Amino acid sequence: MKKPSFSYFPIVVAGVCLAVFVMTADAINIIHPKYNKGSSDIIPGRYIVSFTSKSKSAGSIFTQSLQEGIESDLKVNQRYSHELFNGLSIKLDTTDDAIHTSSLQTILDRSDVKSVTPVRLINRPEIIVEKIKKGKKASTPSVLPHAMTQVDRVHSELKNKGKGVLVAVLDTGIDYLHPALGGGFGKGFKVSNGYDLVGDAYTGSNTPVPDSDPLDKCGVASGASGHGTHVSGIIAGYEASTNFTGVAPEANLAMFRVFGCTGQVSNDVVIKALLMAYDAGADVVNLSLGATNAWGTTSDTESDIVNKLVEKGVSVVISAGNSGAQGIYTVGQPGTSKNAFTVASVENQYYTAKELTASGIDHGILYSPSGVDTIVDNDVAISDKTPGTAADSCTAAQISPDVKGKIALIQRGSCNFSDKVNNAASAGAVGAIIYNNVDGSLSASVPGVTIPVVSITNADGKELVAAILKGSVKITFNHAGAIHPVTDGGSISSFSSNGAESELNFKPNIAGIGGNVYSTLPRYLDSWGIMSGTSMAAPYVAGSVALYVHSEGSKKRQSISFVNEQFQNYALPTKVYNTSTIDSPIRQGAGLVQVYDAITQKTHVTPAQITFKDSSDSKSKTQSITITNRGSKTISYEVKNDISTAISPYDVEASGYAPLEPADNYSAAAKLRFSTKAFKLAPGKSKKITFTVTPPKTNPRDHIFYGGFIHVVSKQKSNGKDIKVPYFGVVGSQKTLPVFDTGFPTIIDRQSNEYGPKDTFTFDRSVKNSSPIAVIRLLTPSKTIKAELLDAKTKKVVGLFLTGLDYNGRNFLTGDTRYDQYSWDGTYIPASIPNAPFPIPAPAGTYLWRLSALKLLGNPKTKKDWETYTSGPIVLKN
Ligand SMILES: *[C@@H]1O[C@H](CO)[C@@H](O)[C@H](O)[C@H]1NC(C)=O
Ligand SMILES: *[C@@H]1O[C@H](CO)[C@@H](O)[C@H](O)[C@H]1NC(C)=O
Ligand SMILES: *[C@@H]1O[C@H](CO)[C@@H](O)[C@H](O)[C@H]1NC(C)=O
Ligand SMILES: *[C@@H]1O[C@H](CO)[C@@H](O)[C@H](O)[C@H]1NC(C)=O
Ligand SMILES: *[C@@H]1O[C@H](CO)[C@@H](O)[C@H](O)[C@H]1NC(C)=O
Repeated sequence: MKKPSFSYFPIVVAGVCLAVFVMTADAINIIHPKYNKGSSDIIPGRYIVSFTSKSKSAGSIFTQSLQEGIESDLKVNQRYSHELFNGLSIKLDTTDDAIHTSSLQTILDRSDVKSVTPVRLINRPEIIVEKIKKGKKASTPSVLPHAMTQVDRVHSELKNKGKGVLVAVLDTGIDYLHPALGGGFGKGFKVSNGYDLVGDAYTGSNTPVPDSDPLDKCGVASGASGHGTHVSGIIAGYEASTNFTGVAPEANLAMFRVFGCTGQVSNDVVIKALLMAYDAGADVVNLSLGATNAWGTTSDTESDIVNKLVEKGVSVVISAGNSGAQGIYTVGQPGTSKNAFTVASVENQYYTAKELTASGIDHGILYSPSGVDTIVDNDVAISDKTPGTAADSCTAAQISPDVKGKIALIQRGSCNFSDKVNNAASAGAVGAIIYNNVDGSLSASVPGVTIPVVSITNADGKELVAAILKGSVKITFNHAGAIHPVTDGGSISSFSSNGAESELNFKPNIAGIGGNVYSTLPRYLDSWGIMSGTSMAAPYVAGSVALYVHSEGSKKRQSISFVNEQFQNYALPTKVYNTSTIDSPIRQGAGLVQVYDAITQKTHVTPAQITFKDSSDSKSKTQSITITNRGSKTISYEVKNDISTAISPYDVEASGYAPLEPADNYSAAAKLRFSTKAFKLAPGKSKKITFTVTPPKTNPRDHIFYGGFIHVVSKQKSNGKDIKVPYFGVVGSQKTLPVFDTGFPTIIDRQSNEYGPKDTFTFDRSVKNSSPIAVIRLLTPSKTIKAELLDAKTKKVVGLFLTGLDYNGRNFLTGDTRYDQYSWDGTYIPASIPNAPFPIPAPAGTYLWRLSALKLLGNPKTKKDWETYTSGPIVLKN
């Protein structure tokens, strides 16, 4: 293999059963009632080329000499000529596979090419709709979470609001004309820098149309969420009239818009945006790149650039992901990369909600407007002549004449919201209330209507119907909204992804406020609103880092790792909801940021997070921390071990090693033996403390994640506060965990018939759609899956029939990404030519597939660290 990239080179062709290229990890998209979730994020024919030289002319030399050297049309989508990355994003424009192959071969053979990786699609950040849970009121309710994080004290006592710090944001654009976001763009404005790399119509798959203005003016009809405006407000919003205050309200923002109004983004655009953020002089970059895959190592260029940015002194803050409901190993890339500061989500203590009151109903009803909230107080009437059916208001004939001049009450279901509302409007309704047809709140997007629309829950809707049936009901709207407590405020959000990183590295690292966060929205979405997600927690921490950077003033900057550790040292460990038990570090990292302490406290502990790995790892059992007094007073300290809840990832009796979704809490405590229990630290002095872990005595079969905090207790609180260092480990050996789920891998055909290990599959290459499809489902992440083709008679390996199955995340049992599917096009890399640059057609014959997955933390050289599946006979006809 000449180029390092090749072993990681999943080439995908969109079509089915194409010649040479389909072989490599071609995840396909077919509809099958059982296996319906396989789709590839790789864009066919597009590649990121990285050059060996740093020369500015490398790109043009490459394209000029190549245009003559290859037969396919070469298009350049992005040019990167940068100290951190010199390369191109290209498209090979040909429908002929042989030409595609030879062109790519020509590129790989060039001495100026360092690596070639496929272009991938990255999903839009996900917004969680949380069930609203009311809790008890405290004395000074505020929808702003800054009392929970000491940000209020940084503002008021330190007079630090982040002035002069530039935070770069890669997101959906920003409505900077919003009064809380500065009202303009460019020098002198809050949003001082930025660029639109893609344009409104960009979906990830079409050609970006860049322009210099990152304004989000998508409009309500586009279905856009206003995500970038929301996160920008969290970081740096400020409005005097409402006292809305972001974390760093005087910081500047640079918005690099990488999403159109809807759809995804390809990673070559994200790479460009990261480099632009660096060039803009960003101190902090907050980005959203989400693949729920817990591997910290990848061969992807953007993870590489994330690590390089951090080395250059730019803090990169990334959300952990929103898959906590799916249990362990759900943190996502590139948050898993070593240098990223990866953020879990904590619930806000208050949310604000618009509320309506109805005569005859003795409690408030929460509502959310569709677009700008212009609905006015009025009588309400039931819209449909027969209320309570799915087809409520779907035809004009169904509408009750009672709605004339009133607000129409409509149930969700069967036809779209716009049709329902337009029917009611035609009958004279002046506004509409849509109620959900299932449990939970509703936030309806209703484009193309002329009357204002709001939505409410199913229960509230039914109660309104009952009240109207009794007599006339008048609705009064409280547009400003009222503040309500959140029951589980202060605890980790249930959606927040769980660690650890696949090889038991420490992730997530820290937590911010991400549940029920009130912030700015584009004016077309009514200017203000609540969103939830680790997408909200990451900018909270990005703003906190901006405050830290400001506090350094003109002094020499600390390294990013020092700053991150300082935040971890003084973070507040959160409790499991409704208990006094500390939550696990694999959920919360070091805990919720406490920004005032991070900035002002003078004792520093490194490292600031510990992983003991699993019980089989004797090297990790004994470790140390170093405590340094950087202040001017002597402090005495004691060390102790604060136990957190343990995490039970499986219920082995009931469901084997299928991860519990979500993971369960468990009571189990590790013992720590410290080299020193009490010590004194004079100014400028350091103390190293060594400790050895004795994991709890739980059954190793249960693979319990135990955890806690090394608590460095200060004996003179006025000279220095306590410090906590989170740790975790696993009882048992991860190497013993099964990788494939029972019944997997398996083979299906295009008609979705399944072929067991005894069945014969016949694949005639001359017959369209006759190829076998491997369906794989992993309970446990696997660093690599080997896909060998065996001669059915001799059982000898003749070659590889798929490549590129590296750094595989686990599949979920619920929700998305439950299976991965790979079709075979009948080609292979012969064992006799292991360096063959490209697969070639396999001769006709009878074969077996052998798929071997490397177990977690397994040694590839040890046979029993591989788990193996062998298929039934596959008869290949050419
Ligand atoms: C505005 O909010 C800050 C905290 O964010 C608080 O300290 C201050 O008292 C508030 N002012 C008013 C007038 O509510
Ligand atoms: C609603 O459905 C109608 C067809 O009944 C269609 O014409 C219209 O475009 C749809 N509107 C939206 C916003 O989807
Ligand atoms: C911050 O990053 C998260 C994910 O890492 C993303 O969802 C969010 O949009 C980003 N916020 C900003 C302001 O870029
Ligand atoms: C376990 O802890 C999580 C995280 O705090 C919490 O959301 C969940 O409710 C707890 N589960 C149980 C069964 O107590
Ligand atoms: C909280 O815990 C108490 C005591 O353990 C229990 O009675 C109560 O039902 C719990 N509340 C919730 C909302 O889970």
